[in-house]
Amino acid sequence: MNDMTPLPCASTVRSGKQARGLHVITWGCQMNVYDSERMTDVLRPLGYEAVDAPDRADMIILNTCHIRDRAAEKVFSELGRLRLVKEARAQAGQQTVLAVAGCVAQAEGREILARAPYVDIVLGPQTYHRLPEMVARAARAAGAVIETDFPVEQKFDFLPPEREVPAGGAAFLTIQEGCDKFCSFCVVPYTRGAEASRPVAAIMDEARRLVAHGVREITLLGQNVNAYHGDGPDGTTWGLARLTAELAGQVGVERIRYTTSHPRDMDDGLVAAHREQPALMPFLHLPVQSGSDRVLAAMNRGHTAQEYRDLVARLRTARPDLALSSDFIVGHPGETDEDFEQTMQLIRDIGFAQAYSFKYSPRPGTPASNAGAQVPEDVKDARLQRLQALLREQQDAFNAASVGQRVDVLFTGRGRKPGQISGKSPYLQAVHVEGPDSLIGQVAEVDIVKLHTNSLGGVLTGETDRV
Ligand code: 5AD
Ligand code: SF4
Repeated sequence: MNDMTPLPCASTVRSGKQARGLHVITWGCQMNVYDSERMTDVLRPLGYEAVDAPDRADMIILNTCHIRDRAAEKVFSELGRLRLVKEARAQAGQQTVLAVAGCVAQAEGREILARAPYVDIVLGPQTYHRLPEMVARAARAAGAVIETDFPVEQKFDFLPPEREVPAGGAAFLTIQEGCDKFCSFCVVPYTRGAEASRPVAAIMDEARRLVAHGVREITLLGQNVNAYHGDGPDGTTWGLARLTAELAGQVGVERIRYTTSHPRDMDDGLVAAHREQPALMPFLHLPVQSGSDRVLAAMNRGHTAQEYRDLVARLRTARPDLALSSDFIVGHPGETDEDFEQTMQLIRDIGFAQAYSFKYSPRPGTPASNAGAQVPEDVKDARLQRLQALLREQQDAFNAASVGQRVDVLFTGRGRKPGQISGKSPYLQAVHVEGPDSLIGQVAEVDIVKLHTNSLGGVLTGETDRV
């Protein structure tokens, strides 16, 4: 991200060869999903194989998210549940290594070990490559292992190059981590550390392997993905536009997305890339947070509402069908009714295809948490309701306009109903059709015929690009 969009999810990650079970629970943003996959890759040579139930796992990793409210409480309540699993297994003579990873581990590592002494390993996001060594130390040590430093070595240099390729033709690839922007409300600069970009060559290699395994769409990830400035193979620093051009041209990535972007880092080259690079999908998550200049300044966002409007206009000139998404916070300290109305007006002016919206909640250690003028809960509730109703209207209108259109869909998996497969339109809408499993991982043309609450129904046109 800059602003990672937390997607609450619990995923089990599949893994390699032999006899030890690994169960990974992933909360939070896409970057955590990517990190969980990479932790699995790191543990595969130790013989860990994914299992979908914690009670069959010799190792359980809880990969946590700290972005919003009550993150630590949620972790402790989940740990309470996992403790019972660990105890039941111990009674049956089976050991379980319990690890807590992610941003809550980074921010509250000591607290976790104090309150949940049955946890064996606590590791921050910059130390995943050290996991095998930590597992060995946990096996030897009497106490728990904690690794929440920001190591001098780059974890990406130490992660195995071979990664398990997710099924379904779409993959995440982290190209950048951390954030130096210090928005008033946000914990990310404290949990993920300073902004850093991976070198171009490493990204190209990883992308090449993904494409060789059938991946057609890559979503480039970073807390500030469009601040990307990686060392290029020619000795110069590359920005995101040059990287995406190369990924499409040299590596042959068919569809490219990137998330999450900050308005301040959307330079002319990247705007032009949306006109010039057909592989760049016409969907952009570009969080604005508020439509009031007063609040934007208090948030330390570094741009005004008008600058955001102008940027959107330039993007839409470059790519007229670009679908926009954003994050909004209501009730930031000091937000008045007038400020909130300005946010509503900005939403009306721009028109979003989808958006995430949140009530401000204080994160300990961030500047906004100490500010006076905290907004009362009931005011925040009322504002959020109005804002979400407006965003819902816009999302429905955007999806309704797709009915009757013909779009290319990347099918990523089976649908909920038998005989159904589902995938994503270029505008990141979920699309379901009746179709064969053989289309999973492929792009096919679809006529959109029906609007559902959060998805679209379609019919295959028959002109697929099956290979
Ligand atoms: N309170 C509410 N929302 C927050 N976000 C980040 N921190 C907070 C907070 N303290 C939201 C922002 C960000 C998204 C990922 O989460 O909108 O863009
Ligand atoms: Fe995004 Fe601001 Fe948080 Fe950085 S500090 S991750 S720019 S919300």
